[in-house]
Amino acid sequence: MQDIVRRLDTCRVCGRDDWLEVTSFGSVPLANGFLDPADLPAEEPAYPVDVIVCRGCRLMAVRHVIRPDVLFRHYVYVTSESDQMTGHMRRIVGWCTRRAALAPGELVVELGSNIGLQLGLFQEQGQRVVGVDPAENLAAIANARGVRTLPEFFGGDQGRRIHAEQGEAKLVLGRQCFAHIDDVHNVLDGATAVLAPDGLVAIEVPYLLDLLEENQFDTIYHEHLSYYSVTTLGHLFQRHGLRIVDVERAAVHGGSIVVFAAREGSDHPTRPSVGQLLSLERQRGLDTDAAYLEFAERAHQVITEIGDLVRDLAARGLTVAGYGAPSKGTTLLQFCGLGPAEVRFCSDTTSLKHGRLLPGTRIPCCSPEQARAQEPDYYLLLAWNYAEEIIGKERDFLSRGGRFIIPIPQPRVVTAEPVPAVA
Ligand code: TYD
Ligand code: ZN
Repeated sequence: MQDIVRRLDTCRVCGRDDWLEVTSFGSVPLANGFLDPADLPAEEPAYPVDVIVCRGCRLMAVRHVIRPDVLFRHYVYVTSESDQMTGHMRRIVGWCTRRAALAPGELVVELGSNIGLQLGLFQEQGQRVVGVDPAENLAAIANARGVRTLPEFFGGDQGRRIHAEQGEAKLVLGRQCFAHIDDVHNVLDGATAVLAPDGLVAIEVPYLLDLLEENQFDTIYHEHLSYYSVTTLGHLFQRHGLRIVDVERAAVHGGSIVVFAAREGSDHPTRPSVGQLLSLERQRGLDTDAAYLEFAERAHQVITEIGDLVRDLAARGLTVAGYGAPSKGTTLLQFCGLGPAEVRFCSDTTSLKHGRLLPGTRIPCCSPEQARAQEPDYYLLLAWNYAEEIIGKERDFLSRGGRFIIPIPQPRVVTAEPVPAVA
């Protein structure tokens, strides 16, 4: 059997092997490795989270690469149907439709299409759609919802096969999956194999600049192999005859970019947003070692501060629970060394997680309904990327004297007064 973990030796984007060793967050089990309490392993395998940056193309990556089938064949991450995410998915449809001049009947291919919510919106406005997602459990749900989905890893073969069967795609979309992909060149081979001459590739990734500046250390875990800037994506696309023509910043997942790329020779004009973000990245020092090393220093400090705050509350007899059990939350709890003694449970809307224990920390995960019966004094807001929406809908908890701890960029406590602004 192939090893579960390999070390990244050469950069997956530019092929160089000149790495800046940024920091290590220690060894932890996989962030989505939820445990069944009836079938607990004596020991959970743990793998290092070591952060490195390529001095050639400035790709930030984790050194240890877990075999993708271990991570993605059965996946508990289901696209959120929160207001924020639904609104964002509708905006994506608008952005892509306008830029790719999408007409009814044209083909949209999405990689990492999860349960097909995004593609369903394209289907509603008349496009033909094909989703590709390696998670067999999620692809089955998508197919049952009427969104045609191949339960496979997308690559050159899949792109060629879809092209042969369905013709060329006006849009190849990959939302929040590029960070998960090791062999990005194979995926872009597939994208260019199916892409129409005037089509667009649209890739949404968490934005490296936001990660560094907002101390989002908890978004660094094994599933996220790569952390991209516009600069690095430009290098990557260039190798596949693609040119970045536009970029949108979006508030999802703590700050993301949607990068639109067209074939080199196509008529798509390059918009000013591209140059603006490239110079912003230079201005913020993303081409220097210091930006990454200073982030690492801040991250370790924030980890200490969160741990101290929660341990201090627990020591004073106050109860703390986690709000949400996202991958970044299981990661944060592990990095901060918090367990069930300090954080009694985590509530999460994802039914696949209910009744399970969080990886490593073994904190129980329950439904929001169960959580209401055992409300804590403080909720540690692990799903901080939904802060506004969650605090908005939990006003009653606040008015009963409950508090939220928002962990990043620095831990801060939110009380009922003043009432936070909600969009
Ligand atoms: P997300 O930030 O997308 O996860 P990840 O860090 O794994 O990429 O997921 C948010 C999690 O928070 C998800 O498990 C669902 C949960 N959640 C709640 O429990 N309640 C809520 O109101 C919202 C918006 C999310
Ligand atoms: Zn590189």
